[in-house]
Amino acid sequence: MDIQVISIFPEMFLAITEHGVIARAIKQGVLNVSLLNPRDFANDKHSTVDGRPYGGGPGMVMMPDVMASVIEAALENAQQRKQADDKLGKTKVVYLSPQGQCFTHSAAKNFAENDECDSLILLAGRYEGVDERVLQRYVDEEWSVGDYVLSGGELPAMIMIDAIARLLPSSLGNVESAEQDSFSNGLLDCPHYTRPEQFNGEPVPQVLLSGDHQAIETWRLKQSLGRTWLRRPDLLENKALTAEEIRLLDEFKLEFNGCNGSEFE
Ligand SMILES: C[S@@+](CC[C@H](N)C(=O)[O-])C[C@H]1O[C@@H](n2cnc3c(N)ncnc32)[C@H](O)[C@@H]1O
Repeated sequence: MDIQVISIFPEMFLAITEHGVIARAIKQGVLNVSLLNPRDFANDKHSTVDGRPYGGGPGMVMMPDVMASVIEAALENAQQRKQADDKLGKTKVVYLSPQGQCFTHSAAKNFAENDECDSLILLAGRYEGVDERVLQRYVDEEWSVGDYVLSGGELPAMIMIDAIARLLPSSLGNVESAEQDSFSNGLLDCPHYTRPEQFNGEPVPQVLLSGDHQAIETWRLKQSLGRTWLRRPDLLENKALTAEEIRLLDEFKLEFNGCNGSEFE
């Protein structure tokens, strides 16, 4: 996958491109991340990228001519890369915005698995955002990382890159680990334990020491179902449970209610 990011703070992206899963994916050639700085496309000696808003009010707006030039340059790069590598598919221009659709695990999966569109241009806004005419002309999709406003689109862009990169084939050390994470099967992940067996007087659940793989798998599924019921019941509303899953969840509820003396439904 080829990702170009447009940002006036390109150095921020070293935080992800030089560490962990993303650094490994880049090294393995599964992912390419490059940066374009709108200041390099500005038309004055001060490298100005923002102007005062028409109609007045606080804040500045990213200028349409500068932003159009940098997006055009990114589209041109994508075109050239496609000519050099015929495996690369369509390019999508994405604007990170609190007004966009909410970025989720399934959105990340769609980006990671969509071979027809494996070239992304991520536009990170600053100030009050980007002149609307540029968004209208160039942007294919707007994505938000949550219902709050950040000072820039850099962190949201990094969140998108990280969530997508770890789902790219062969970018995680252990492929299974992404499949077991929260949301991958519509449930939250089960709890995890490591050495020592006793910590502050608390033992590791006995079944995890049993070596019985079937029993361990069943316990993990039951914990996953139970946690989702306790913490994110909305996820269960959208999931069709098998008869076995219903039985395990009922068992979990009984044990939970027994421990808490409460009547959770
Ligand atoms: C201060 S914000 C501008 C917010 C804009 N005036 C609004 O209220 O919709 C500056 C930039 O941060 C980014 N941003 C802020 N919050 C975000 C979020 N929740 N998701 C994605 N991007 C966000 C966008 O790129 C935005 O252009």
